[in-house]
Amino acid sequence: MRNFLQLSDLENDEIKNLINEALAYKNKKISLPCFNKSVALIFLEASTRTKVSFELAALRSGNHVINLDAITSSLTKGETMQDTLDTLGNLEVSIAIIRSSDELYYQDIDTSKIKIINAGDGTNGHPSQSLLDLVTIYEHFNTFDKKVLIMGDIKHSRVARSNINIMARLGLSVDVYAPEIFKTDEEFNYITDLDNNLENYDVIMLLRNQLERHEDSYNIQDVYLEKYGLSKSRLEKLSSDAIIMHPGPFNRNVELDEVVLKDKRNKIDQQVTNGLYARIAILNYVLGE
Ligand code: CP
Repeated sequence: MRNFLQLSDLENDEIKNLINEALAYKNKKISLPCFNKSVALIFLEASTRTKVSFELAALRSGNHVINLDAITSSLTKGETMQDTLDTLGNLEVSIAIIRSSDELYYQDIDTSKIKIINAGDGTNGHPSQSLLDLVTIYEHFNTFDKKVLIMGDIKHSRVARSNINIMARLGLSVDVYAPEIFKTDEEFNYITDLDNNLENYDVIMLLRNQLERHEDSYNIQDVYLEKYGLSKSRLEKLSSDAIIMHPGPFNRNVELDEVVLKDKRNKIDQQVTNGLYARIAILNYVLGE
């Protein structure tokens, strides 16, 4: 058994194998694994897609699932994450799937008793989302020789941070667009002219405005769509062969006009479905031989 902490910890071939494996599960080319282990979900931040799809992935691959409720667990009595994980390990739970608002929460954890799957750590990483995004792009284009624009709240986005470097490593060309307040000092390929460049991209990846991490002073929700989002007029500028992605949950008529949801280039639903199969592949990576 091993941990799954960041996608960048894996070799390119390992990532490509996970992508192909997820698609093979989805297309019923291979049967699902069966582990008969116990898996704990510890979500200390809100989630629908990641939590439910990891739970389904664990169940479909023959595991027992324990949902550790953060409020009623002994974490609220001051028990440390290390002691909580050791307790679960003593109960023969094999994996803890953890979402936390603390960046790199796993860094100082001893995982000799139980392995960790990182389901999101603050603004730092969201490796299972990155994998399902890669699955979705590869499923559509069957190549990574494509141009991606990631646009939105880069500053607070673990999805962007997980995706940018790994996409470049796999051969995708990645540009980034963000309002000034959401830019960071990281060395990303920022573009400044959104409207005159949109037609050049094969993949438009929108990001959620991470309101729960914002300072009050931002206060730009009302003007966001027309100034920075995928508005109706920008939708018309996209290539007819492009695909549109968003990790969800989206803020309707903020990051995207709701007409985008009916556009045939929208892949948001497929991303959610691919999340299930990508997470079965991740469980196999952690639990498999
Ligand atoms: N994309 C994503 O992580 O969604 P949830 O917060 O609903 O899990």
